[in-house]
Amino acid sequence: MMSNEIKKESISAGKQPAWSEIDLSSDPHAASDKAKRVEVMFESISRRYDLNNRIHSFWLDQLWRKKAVAASDLQVEDQVIDIACGTGDLSIAFANANAKSVIGIDFTQGMIDRANAKIDGTNIPIEFRCGDAMALELEDESADVISIAFGIRNVQDPAIAIEEFYRVLRQGGRLVVLEFSTPKNALIRYMNNIYTKHIMPRTASFVAGDDSGAYHYLPKSIDTFLGAEALAEQIEHIGFKRVTQTPLTFGVCTITVGHKITRL
Ligand SMILES: C[S@@+](CC[C@H](N)C(=O)[O-])C[C@H]1O[C@@H](n2cnc3c(N)ncnc32)[C@H](O)[C@@H]1O
Repeated sequence: MMSNEIKKESISAGKQPAWSEIDLSSDPHAASDKAKRVEVMFESISRRYDLNNRIHSFWLDQLWRKKAVAASDLQVEDQVIDIACGTGDLSIAFANANAKSVIGIDFTQGMIDRANAKIDGTNIPIEFRCGDAMALELEDESADVISIAFGIRNVQDPAIAIEEFYRVLRQGGRLVVLEFSTPKNALIRYMNNIYTKHIMPRTASFVAGDDSGAYHYLPKSIDTFLGAEALAEQIEHIGFKRVTQTPLTFGVCTITVGHKITRL
């Protein structure tokens, strides 16, 4: 637990960054107030979140989300819950792929507002709502697909969230996790490190006009989070079967899919 626990009012008022250099000198996932810091940080960067995603992924982020949709083996009658939906890009990708219905859930109001603005005045079948990945207000066995893109790393306790995903999925349902990972190739890893740790934090903070520390937290939170294999093991440990992984773009991110199969 971090000793310098912060007050939400003081970070949201900009008196203190969500993540200071000192906070990021240790593991941010160990902070007992990680959820609070994460929420304030996303509130702070929500306005330029999409632009930063496009620029800093070299316009690959939407392709990664499309691949996550393809990995879900979506069927026409499928009901999709997109957790930590942020500004809604993955939820919209599922709707565009003809999911029967999509619910996008996120705990940052500013991100949900931006998601809603994207579908305002359209008939895209998505409902965006505020909620916590660790305590979903959803019935047991009520979804066919649960997705989470670049979100599981940001959740206070990923194991609790994955247990919730298992509870809410129907028999035969699929969990699709898209998350940053560490490239296996040493040269790619070296170049990726320079980019994500030394270039991107400065340029993305500039684009967002952000001093919450969000884009310094990003590489640190990837480095200190479960590696792709460990994440797959955790998903398996919680009960998912046939867990498979697909690395994307030299392994800078990975899609993990698990199936809920309780009866043979
Ligand atoms: C990096 S953004 C990803 C947004 C979106 N999925 C995308 O593909 O761009 C991570 C999101 O996780 C949300 N988040 C983190 N912890 C959460 C939790 N416990 N419950 C709901 N949302 C959470 C944040 O508010 C933020 O919008």
